[in-house]
This record gives sequence, C-alpha cells and structure tokens, in this order.
Amino acid sequence: MNLKACFKTLAMAAALALPVNAFAAPIVIKFSHVVAQHTPKGQAADYFKKLAEERTKGRVKVEVYPNSQLYKDKEEMEALQLGAVQMLAPSLAKFAPLGVKEFEVFDLPFIFDNYQELHKVTQGPVGAKLLKKLEPKGILGLAYWDNGFKVMSDNKPLKNVADFRGQKMRIQSSKVLDSQMRSVGAIPQVLAFSEVYQALQTGVVDGTENPPSNLYTQKMHEVQKYVTLSDHGYLGYAVIVNKKFWQGLPADIRTILEGCMKDATKYANDVAKKDNDEALAAVKKSGRSQLITLTPQERAAWKKAMDKAHKDNMSRIGADIVKEVYAATGYNAN
Ligand code: LMR
Repeated sequence: MNLKACFKTLAMAAALALPVNAFAAPIVIKFSHVVAQHTPKGQAADYFKKLAEERTKGRVKVEVYPNSQLYKDKEEMEALQLGAVQMLAPSLAKFAPLGVKEFEVFDLPFIFDNYQELHKVTQGPVGAKLLKKLEPKGILGLAYWDNGFKVMSDNKPLKNVADFRGQKMRIQSSKVLDSQMRSVGAIPQVLAFSEVYQALQTGVVDGTENPPSNLYTQKMHEVQKYVTLSDHGYLGYAVIVNKKFWQGLPADIRTILEGCMKDATKYANDVAKKDNDEALAAVKKSGRSQLITLTPQERAAWKKAMDKAHKDNMSRIGADIVKEVYAATGYNAN
C-alpha cells in the first residue's frame, strides 16, 4: 500500500470507528493432514476452522488441506518446522523421526483397553509431559485428538498368531509397530499413508492396520479380503503448531484460538467412536471384505506374542514413561 492509500485507510477506519486492523490481511493458518474429510481428524480440523474464523471475525483464516493434498507424512513435519504450514495433527506413531521417541508408547500393542484408559494418559500428566518434549524441536503440542482402535486387514484370514508368518504388513514410521509385526512373524514395511491403498491393490504389501474410519474412507476394504476386529492397538493424534508462529500471534487472537482448540478437541473426541462404529458397519455392509472376530483365547495369544514389542522397546521409549502409562492403564501382559 502506498503512503496516500495508507492515510486514506486510516482516515476511513477512524471515520467508521473501526479498529485499524479491520483492514489488515487475515492471519492464515495452513492446516495440512493426510486423511479424508469424513474421519474424526478431518471433521475436527474443519470444525476448528469454522470456530476460528467465526470467533476471530475473519482476522484468522484457516486453510485445511486434507488427504495429503499438500504434503505426505514426512514432508508435512518438515514443512511445519520450516513454517510452510502452521498446524498439523500427525498420528502419535509419527513423532519418532522428529527425535521424540517417547510418543511410541501409544503404539504399544494392547496397552489401552478402551478410550477411558487412553484418556487417563492423554488428559493426564504423562500426556502433558510428552507434549513438552516437542518444544526444543520448535513445535508446540496443543491437544490430543482421538481416532480409535485398530483392526488388522489382509488378503489372508488372520486369526492365529501363526497366520501372520511371512505376511508383508504396512506400518507407520514407528519402531514399536515394527516390533509388533515382527513379534508375530510378519514383515513390516513403512509406507506413507497416501501410498497404502495402491500398495495393497498392487500386492506390494499383503495387509495393514488402521482404525475402521481410515480403512473405510481410503477404500482399503475394497482391496483386502479379510478384516480382523482385533482392537490390538490405538491410533490417535497430537495437534501441533510451529512454535514461533504461535508465540508471535497477537495475544488476544492466541487466546481465542486456544478456546477454539479446546472445543474442537471435545468435538474430535466426541465423534471418534461414532465415526469408527459407522465405518465398520459400512465395511460390513459393502460385503467387500469378510470380518473376522477373534475368540478371547485367540486374542489373548496375540497379546502374549506382541508383548515382546513392549520388552524390546522399553529403553527406546523410556522405562519411566512406559511405567507411568502402565500405572495409569493397569496394563499387564497376561
Ligand atoms: C496412518 O498413516 O496410517 C495414519 O497415521 C493416518 C492418520 O493420520 O490417521
């Protein structure tokens, strides 16, 4: 704006008794994520956008980029640190490549029996302690958003531990998930989320794991013959922002956005179970893959075999963190 136009704007603002910044360009928050819009994370991101734009009266504009439109898993982390995007909600399994291995505690198989146990961690002191560990990386953790408990899909029925032998399974970039798959004799392969459907379709991998909401919205069930309802592990998110960006926001705006995040978090956690239940019902209805239910004995055998992932990763995650989570959830191997 040239000097003359600038004076004109100020004069207009004064005449209309508007705050001077009523004419300022909005603050843009680019929020990138890798899942479909109709998932717990996708819906919560859209809800955050709605609240932020309404409550700041347009001073903040949130641009949500779903489905890896802007960046894939690894790139989005780099983009956040470089300031090319301002907000992400990566799954908790994706923080170790940043150097914060402690988050892999959430990937330990069978560590949470239900959302109540999970919330003791995400809404308690351990959850807060973990988010603090992001700060030296130039990242602030604002909240945990739920997704849900994972099913195991494959072109072969996975019921007994022996069924996993030699199966190539796509995993997220987590050493705990790598151990989990190896503990049952499978061959894990890390792939970005955006590549999973094609890898399953072309046989690059035989199977994978994800909550039903991700399985269904990516149409993975159309290229998997069997889905085992195992609930063997949890997948959820931390909402993170570029620290410099967040701390550089005008204080009043930051306070409003913190309130929006609080409400979007409640919303995310309210829709998560329902979305997953509905996705599972839709998979069933589609008839594209056969659902397998484990007997308590079969499930106990998975748990027993996968306990190796706990033992093997105790020092990687940090025994103190693992024990604090055990204390909160009451995990025991048997
Ligand atoms: C995955 O890569 O399987 C998930 O992390 C995707 C997501 O963000 O839910």
